[in-house]
Amino acid sequence: MNHEQSRDLYDRALSVMPGGVNSSVRAIRPYPFFVASGDGGHVVDADGNRYIDYVMGYGPLLLGHDQPESVQSAVQRRAAEGPMYGVPTEVEVELAEFVARHVPSVEMTRFVNSGTEATVSAVRLARGYTGREKIVVMQSGYHGAQESTLVEGEGDHTAPSSPGIPDSFAEHTLTIPFNDADAARDIFAEHGDDIAAVLTEPILGNYGIVHPVEGFHETLEALCDDHGSLLIFDEVITGFRVGGLQCAQGKFDIDPDITTFGKIVGGGFPVGAIGGKSEIIEQFTPAGDVFQSGTFSGHPVTMAAGLETLRYAAENDVYSHVNGLADQLRSGLQDILEDQAPQYTVVGTDSMFKVIFTRNGPDSFDGHCEAGCKQREECPRYDHCPKNGGDVKRAETERWERLFWPAMKEAGVFLTANQFESQFVCDAHTTEDIEETLEAYKRAI
Ligand SMILES: Cc1ncc(COP(=O)(O)O)c(C=O)c1O
Repeated sequence: MNHEQSRDLYDRALSVMPGGVNSSVRAIRPYPFFVASGDGGHVVDADGNRYIDYVMGYGPLLLGHDQPESVQSAVQRRAAEGPMYGVPTEVEVELAEFVARHVPSVEMTRFVNSGTEATVSAVRLARGYTGREKIVVMQSGYHGAQESTLVEGEGDHTAPSSPGIPDSFAEHTLTIPFNDADAARDIFAEHGDDIAAVLTEPILGNYGIVHPVEGFHETLEALCDDHGSLLIFDEVITGFRVGGLQCAQGKFDIDPDITTFGKIVGGGFPVGAIGGKSEIIEQFTPAGDVFQSGTFSGHPVTMAAGLETLRYAAENDVYSHVNGLADQLRSGLQDILEDQAPQYTVVGTDSMFKVIFTRNGPDSFDGHCEAGCKQREECPRYDHCPKNGGDVKRAETERWERLFWPAMKEAGVFLTANQFESQFVCDAHTTEDIEETLEAYKRAI
C-alpha cells in the first residue's frame, strides 16, 4: 500500500494542529491515514487505498457511510433552509418524542453537541438535584473530556489524570472497578449520604468492551435507591446500538434515573443528549435552576439526521442485520482463536466486537459463551475473561497495537487503533466483508 499523500498531509498537519489531529485517539502511529471518502461499509484514503471500516467514526455511523435517501434529503433540506436559527424547530420535538417513545427510562430529553457535554451536564444535574457533590465512576471508564471524570486512583484516593485539572475535582470523584459489587457496597457504606450519582456505561465500550456480570447493575440500582443517589447510564456508545431502539437499559432491564446519549442519536453529526424522568430533567434551566445552555444545541441538521436515521432503523431490519453479521464475525473469530490463540478473548454484543489479547485462557472451549463473552459463570473462560478496565490493561496491548493493527490495515481492514476502543458492524457491511475480515484475522493473529 502506498501512503505518500497521507504522510504529506500529516507532515502539514503537525505544523498547524497539536499532534496533527483534532482528537487524540486519531494520532495513529507512525502517522494516521487521511480519509478521502466513505463508501457503504468502506473508507477510501487519500492515496486511494480501500478498507473495510469497523471504526465507523467511533460509533455514530449505524448505517455506514452512505445515508439512505430519507436521511440524505432531510439533511440537505435542513442545510438549504438555513442551517440554524437560535429558536426552536419542530424536528427537535420530533426527535425528543421518538427517544421518549423508545427508551424505557426517558420521558424528557435535553439535546447538546457532544457526548462530553452530555456527561458534564448530567453530573451537574445530579449534583443540583440531590444537593450532593460526590460521584462514583468506574476505574478506566471514559465519559469524555470532562474534569470530574478524568481521574485515576482507587476508591476515595483519586487524582486528576490530566494536567490542568484542579485536585478539587478529583476530591469529589470516587472510583470502583467495573463489575465489583463488593466495592460498590463498600463505597456506599462509607460515603453513601454524600453520593449524588453513580455514572457508568452499561457495557464498557472504551476499555476493551467489558460485559456486565449478572447482578452488577442491579446492585448499583439498589444502592442508589437505598441512599437517595441517582444512577446515570452513559449510553453514548450503547444508545440505539445495544438492545436496538430501547438501548442497553432495555436489554438489561435497568431503570436509570438519567441517561446520556451521543453518537448514533445525531446520525453522524455532532450531538449529545441527557434524558430521564421529567422530575429530574426539568431541573435544567429554564424549567429549573441547574444551568444548561448551548448555541448549537438541538441543531436542526443534526436533529434531522438523527431522527431520520432512527426512523430508518425502526422501519427496516437494521438491528437484525448488523447484529446477525456481528454474531457471524464473533463466532468466526472464536473458531480462529481456538486454533491459533486460545488464550485470547472475543468480546462484544449486538454490533460491537473486539478481540482482547488476554494472556491466559481455559484448557477447554466446551460450553464457552458463543459469539462473544457474556460473563456467564458456567463458561470455562469466566475466570480468565476481563471483568474491568484493569484486566484489559493487563492484556498484550503493545502486541495488539504495534503488530496486529498494522497487519490488519495492510490487509485492508480498518480497526480502532488500540486494544481498548470498541469496533462496530454497520448496516452497509455484507457477508462477504465478514468473510474477508475473518481471513485477514486468520493471517494477522
Ligand atoms: C461512553 C462515552 N461517553 C462519553 C463520550 C464522549 O463523547 P464525545 O467524544 O462526543 O464528547 C464517549 C466518547 O467516545 C464515550 O464513549
